[in-house]
Amino acid sequence: MKPPLILTAKGHLGTQHRMEREFDLIKLWEQPDRAAALRAAAPTMRALAHTGHSKVDAALMDALPKLEIIANFGVGVDQIDLDAAQARNIIVTNTANALNDCVADCAIALVLNTLRKFPQADRYVRAGRWKTDGTYPFTTALGGKTLGMLGLGRIGEEIANRAQAFRMSIRYHNRRRKDVPYPYDPDPVTLARHSDVLVAITPGGPDTEKLVNAAVLDALGPAGYLINVARGSVVDQPVLLQYLQQGKIAGAGLDVYAEEPDVPKAFFELDNVVLLPHMASATNETRTAMGNLQIENILRHLAGQPVLTRVT
Ligand code: NAP
Ligand code: 8YV
Repeated sequence: MKPPLILTAKGHLGTQHRMEREFDLIKLWEQPDRAAALRAAAPTMRALAHTGHSKVDAALMDALPKLEIIANFGVGVDQIDLDAAQARNIIVTNTANALNDCVADCAIALVLNTLRKFPQADRYVRAGRWKTDGTYPFTTALGGKTLGMLGLGRIGEEIANRAQAFRMSIRYHNRRRKDVPYPYDPDPVTLARHSDVLVAITPGGPDTEKLVNAAVLDALGPAGYLINVARGSVVDQPVLLQYLQQGKIAGAGLDVYAEEPDVPKAFFELDNVVLLPHMASATNETRTAMGNLQIENILRHLAGQPVLTRVT
């Protein structure tokens, strides 16, 4: 008999298909009566697989009193009520490390595209403007610039490794200083003041809410660039928009937003911002690896073995 599993939302199809093969899978988003489906599953459901950014809250946990594990598809778990899980002795797992390379690649792509304006230049050629308006305006070099890492964790370290190949200098701020060869700044404002490019790659959630605010953007200054691959909540988005509109920072490269998938239309008017649709980990290889790790955690837990990437 296959073990029962609830999957909360449609996500990576290869992962879903593997879950369909290996589990008695309830696809929660397809249930015509969600409450009835949860009631029917409650007596036996020990595992829940979550994907996407909807909330996994205390009410959902209470609807499944036999729940022992919530396995997230993604490293960020800001959408899961971790206190509620802990209070109910529910293990939460993520997909730490499986996506470091692809997210770091994407951060570097945003640095390149934001400073060198390659997407804007591509649009310039496509609009026939090279012929009519002449050479594209000069852009900004990466080499010799300082990259400030706001968050130097698993992904942050990979971004720093890559940025050095572009001859950038690295500095960082975490709450805790690390044993790394980069200068440490005690707070985000000091880091921004010392940086040409500030990269946010912290977790989301209340602890980092609007960590990048007006004071940080002021410290970054009119020649500075912001890259956000963390969570939309980490940046004060209305303030960022205003600073981009008024040229109070030079530009921004964003993969994440406050209310995804809604991106304020005012961003679309701006030539100093590069916008991606939260796709940093979205390659076939990485999404497959994330799904396999999510499933491995569930299978190990159900077999009485320790999970691989436990958050709480
Ligand atoms: P990680 O290894 O836990 O690193 C997080 C880093 O942020 C740590 O160095 C941590 O250091 C620092 N940090 C945490 N809270 C902070 C605060 N209040 N102020 C300053 N620094 C703080 O996590 P990771 O695997 O690198 O992932 C980081 C985050 O990236 C995820 O949680 C997720 O939100 C985001 N992400 C986004 C995408 C995407 O698709 N765009 C993909 C993957 C991950 P201290 O604890 O010492 O402060
Ligand atoms: C995914 C992410 O977009 O891992 C994370 O924290 O933000 C991304 O890898 C997301 O988790 C997919 O649900």
